[in-house]
Amino acid sequence: MLVVLLPAALPSLVVRTASPVAPFCARSPAPAPRASGCVLAERPRRREAIFLAGLPGSGKTRVIKQRFGFTRDDASVLDLDKEIVHHPNYDPESMAAVYDVPGAYEWADERVERAFRAALADPDAFPRIVLDGTGTKVKRRLDRMAAAREAGLWVKLLYVRVKLKTALRRNGKRRRQVPLETLQLYQRLVDAAVAAEKGAADEVEVLDNDTDRAFTGVPSLRPNPNKRP
Ligand SMILES: Nc1ncnc2c1ncn2[C@@H]1O[C@H](COP(=O)(O)OP(=O)(O)O)[C@@H](O)[C@H]1O
Ligand SMILES: [Mg+2]
Repeated sequence: MLVVLLPAALPSLVVRTASPVAPFCARSPAPAPRASGCVLAERPRRREAIFLAGLPGSGKTRVIKQRFGFTRDDASVLDLDKEIVHHPNYDPESMAAVYDVPGAYEWADERVERAFRAALADPDAFPRIVLDGTGTKVKRRLDRMAAAREAGLWVKLLYVRVKLKTALRRNGKRRRQVPLETLQLYQRLVDAAVAAEKGAADEVEVLDNDTDRAFTGVPSLRPNPNKRP
C-alpha cells in the first residue's frame, strides 16, 4: 500500500510499506509544485477507483474538480447526493428533507450502486472512477473497494482532512448547512471510517485542506503510481 500525506495542491511524500495496514506517515517538506494541466487527457495505464472521505464542507468535491477536472455532474463521479435529487420526494426548497423519507436513501444508493457496477464493467468510458462522499458507510465502502480491486482497478482512499472549525466555516456559506452537532458526529465517523478502510486500499492519501486557496481551474492531475516502471 502507498501512504501519502500532503497539504492541498502540493505533491506528495510517498511511502511504500509492506504492511497492508500502514499508519499515516508524518508530514515532510514538500517539493516544488508540478504544473500538469495537459495530462488530463492521458489515461492511467491501470484504471483507478478513487474513494473520497472527509467531513461535509471539507472540500472533497472541490478537490475532485481541481485534481481530476471532474465536476459532480460528470458520469465518472458517483455521489449519492447527486442521485437523491431525482427522487420523487426531493424538494429543492428543502434539500435535506428527502433524507427523512423512508427508503429514499436506499433508493439513491441503489442508483449509485448500479452506476458503480456499470462503470466497473466499462473500462473505455471509465478509466478513472471517483466516489464522492464522506466515506462513513464502512461496509458499503469495503464492498465497493473489494469489487473495484476484483475488477482490476487500483484502489485509492483520498481523505480530505480539515479541522472542525474549517468545515463549520465552509458549511456556513452553503445553502444546505450541516449543523455543528452533525459535523461533530461526522468527525468521529470519518476518523473511524478512514481507519477501517485504509487497509483495503492500494494507496492512501491524506490531504490537509484547512488553508483557503484560490481555485486555479487547472487540473493538477497527479500521476497514477502504476505508471512508474
Ligand atoms: N482549499 C480551499 N480553499 C478555498 N475554498 C475551499 C477550499 N476547499 C473547499 N473550499 C470551499 O468550501 C466549500 C465546500 O467545499 P466542497 O468541495 O463542496 O466540500 P465537500 O464536497 O467536502 O462537502 C466550497 O464552497 C468550496 O469552494
Ligand atoms: Mg461535496
